[in-house]
Amino acid sequence: MYDRMSRKTEEAGLRALREGLLADASGRVLEIGGGTGANLPHYADDLESLVLTEPEPPMLRRLQRKAREEAPLAKVLRAPAEDLPFEDDSFDTVVSTLVLCGVDDQARALREARRVLRPGGRLLFLEHVRADDPDLARYQDRINWLNRLMVDCDCNRPTLASIEAEGFTVSRLERTTMPEAPKFVRPLIVGAAVS
Ligand SMILES: C[S@@+](CC[C@H](N)C(=O)[O-])C[C@H]1O[C@@H](n2cnc3c(N)ncnc32)[C@H](O)[C@@H]1O
Repeated sequence: MYDRMSRKTEEAGLRALREGLLADASGRVLEIGGGTGANLPHYADDLESLVLTEPEPPMLRRLQRKAREEAPLAKVLRAPAEDLPFEDDSFDTVVSTLVLCGVDDQARALREARRVLRPGGRLLFLEHVRADDPDLARYQDRINWLNRLMVDCDCNRPTLASIEAEGFTVSRLERTTMPEAPKFVRPLIVGAAVS
C-alpha cells in the first residue's frame, strides 16, 4: 500500500530528491526506517558497506526482498531507530528519509544516529516538517489527527530544530515541498548534518 500511495509523489519529484541526497552517501552507510527500499536504487556501487534497519515486519519483508534483488551485499536488520544494535562510531553516513516524522521518540532516535556515527560523520535527511508559515503550522496542528490516522506519523514536527538540538551541525539544507502531496505534508527539508 505504501508504494502504491506514494507512486505519484515519487514520480513527480521525490525520486529525484532521493537521488540527489544519496549521491552524498559514502563509506559505511546505515539507513534507518528503510521501509520498502525506495532508496536502494540510489546508492553508489562503491560504498564500503550498507546496512538497512526497519522495525515493522511487513515493511522489513519487502525491504529484504528488494535488497536481495538490488543490493545483494546490503545487510537488513529489524531494529527501531531509538535502539540501534551497533557500536559507537560504526558508520560514516546515516540516512533518514521520511522517518523522523514517525519515530516514537525523535530525540532518542537522533541521539542514536549521532552515537553510531563517527565524529565528523554525516546524517543525510529528507523529512516533511512543521511549516515556517505560522498559518500553515496551525493548520498542521489541527489536522495532525487525520495525518496520524492516514499515515501514522506527525505532520507538524520541528525536525530541523531537533536535529540541531541533538548536537548536529547542519551543513547543507534545501527547503522545498513534497510534490503531489496534501498541503499539510508539503514542507520538506533535504540536507546533511555533521555529527
Ligand atoms: C513513511 S515510511 C518511509 C520509508 C522509507 N524511509 C522511505 O523513504 O520511503 C516510514 C518508515 O519508518 C518506519 N518506522 C516507524 N517507526 C520507526 C522507528 N521507531 N524506528 C525506525 N523506523 C520506524 C516505518 O515502519 C516505515 O517503514
